[in-house]
Amino acid sequence: MRQAIASIAVVDFGGQYTHLICRGIRRAGYRADVRSVGELAAGALAECAGMVLSGGPDSVLAFDLSAIAGRIRGFPRPVLGICYGHQLLARIFGGLVVTACAREYGLTTITAGTDAVLFRGLPPVQRVWMSHGDHVETVPHGFTVTASTDTVPVAAMESAEGLIYSVQFHPEVVHTEHGAAMLGNFIRACLDAAPAGMEELSWSADAVRDEILGAIRTQAGERPLLLLVSGGVDSLVCLGLCIEAVGSGRVHAVHIDTGFMRANESREVAEHLVELGYHNLHVVDASDRYFSSLKGVINPEEKRSIIGRLFVEVLRDAVEALGVGPDWMLVQGTIYPDRIETGGTERADRIKTHHNRVSQIQALIDQGRVIEPLADLYKHEVRHLGVLLGLPPHLVQRQPFPGPGLAVRVVCSDTAIPLSGFDREQASLSGLIGPDLDGLVLPVRSVGVQGDARTYCHPAMVWYRDRRSRPDWQVLKAVAARIVNALSTVNRVVWSARPAGHVSLGVCMLDRRRIDLLQEVDAAARDAAAGERGIWQMPVVALPLFDHEGNQAFVLRPVSSRDAMTADVFAMDPAVFEALRARLQAIEGVGPILYDLTTKPPGTIEWE
Ligand code: XMP
Repeated sequence: MRQAIASIAVVDFGGQYTHLICRGIRRAGYRADVRSVGELAAGALAECAGMVLSGGPDSVLAFDLSAIAGRIRGFPRPVLGICYGHQLLARIFGGLVVTACAREYGLTTITAGTDAVLFRGLPPVQRVWMSHGDHVETVPHGFTVTASTDTVPVAAMESAEGLIYSVQFHPEVVHTEHGAAMLGNFIRACLDAAPAGMEELSWSADAVRDEILGAIRTQAGERPLLLLVSGGVDSLVCLGLCIEAVGSGRVHAVHIDTGFMRANESREVAEHLVELGYHNLHVVDASDRYFSSLKGVINPEEKRSIIGRLFVEVLRDAVEALGVGPDWMLVQGTIYPDRIETGGTERADRIKTHHNRVSQIQALIDQGRVIEPLADLYKHEVRHLGVLLGLPPHLVQRQPFPGPGLAVRVVCSDTAIPLSGFDREQASLSGLIGPDLDGLVLPVRSVGVQGDARTYCHPAMVWYRDRRSRPDWQVLKAVAARIVNALSTVNRVVWSARPAGHVSLGVCMLDRRRIDLLQEVDAAARDAAAGERGIWQMPVVALPLFDHEGNQAFVLRPVSSRDAMTADVFAMDPAVFEALRARLQAIEGVGPILYDLTTKPPGTIEWE
């Protein structure tokens, strides 16, 4: 009989994808757990079957190795370093790590040696996902280079005795073509090195569902459960789980109409729940309160924290009206990416404050009054659970929509200035985009995630000099990657079908008129792109940019993704885009329609 030994430890240096590494190993059927750097330093991981060192937001050049170097050097089983972990291993074993002049974010191609352990059975040339500033320049003594790219000399390395492997890119993200196979090769190395093999971890959606139902019952005890239902997949699946766990009589669902929902959405939420046989929904129109609290607010993080605070305040008022009593538990549909991007693990950077993680909610969490049944799951796993619960496919497959809603899809500005001559990096931009294109750095900002850290920088806008409107997405995406990799103040690139001379920065604040217009544009855009299979999500964002007639610019952000942790630009059929653009520009007040060319990383899916 196989003897169970400890799992593979995924040491969390604060990378955005740490949990994905764990998931990838579990999906292959083996145990993996996220462990802290403190545990590594304390020697608590000595019995693990293998160790993965994750990515991280800081530079390894600033990391004090003394507490962990000995632990890693003395570890007798396989170690896999990823991104930050790769550079860490290089430093620990005496290689050279440098701050790169050419940073890399997003898709790139490696050439790998297929006799290397990690790349066994894989093609030598493959597409991988990078997100880094520093890189390994020289491998340590006793190591060999096992993959490289045009800009990174050591994209992967391996130790001579064959127990240490590391990669600059991210095998754990879905956009790395053969990433799962690489993790599989690492697992096999762990099995080979383990004294008696590893016990298989049975990880199936059915088992997870039963575990979650049990956890809800235990945490709830006899108390009533309160749920904020937005209409999105996560809160709906949560509601389904709660009803199954404790019966609908103890489950009180509240829908808050913030005023920032999509067109007709609040009405549709109520209809959906009736369709599902749930008649206990309490709808609160709090839009006046939201608009007045957000008046004049421009900073996205401030918007997010105000919206999150109001959710709690409005909910407390609603609870009183419902007569639920003071001893309730709040159930939230927080999923794993929400936690990680809000800086939810020890070393992770805060990319955005999720509405489920504002300080008022944190206080409830600290009091033990919050249940988050989906907190370890990714979107596709939540959808799978929804299917198991019997939710209708059109609800389970809905595009994700952020809790703060359209409020984080209106980029605000309280000043108006002409566009030209705005940025000192303008000259470098021209050198990067080639003879066919022109470009401009825009005087607005959006959020990005670069090298596992938050950025809040400017988008660049590019357009064809010859006014051609048919976009070549491959070329445009490559240009976008080049710009973001080269210019540190640019984290996003959009394409405009027309030259930029026609737009200027204008005043744009969050008010009903603006939201009405965005709702109309968003609804029309979703309808026009409905046939485009492969769009995982398509935020439509209002920018504070206006043409000569005062018509506003909107940007489309269609992406393909599986788990929201990485995303690729969806290449829309140019004819569909053209029809969509014409349809949107027929709406009064709508001006330029831009197309976001930025993968995630370096740009987050939402702009704010
Ligand atoms: P980003 O913009 O961080 O978003 O790439 C990843 C996914 O999360 C959604 N999102 C949110 N969802 N509350 C939510 O329920 C939020 O505060 C929030 N912020 C972003 C976003 O739409 C995307 O699907």
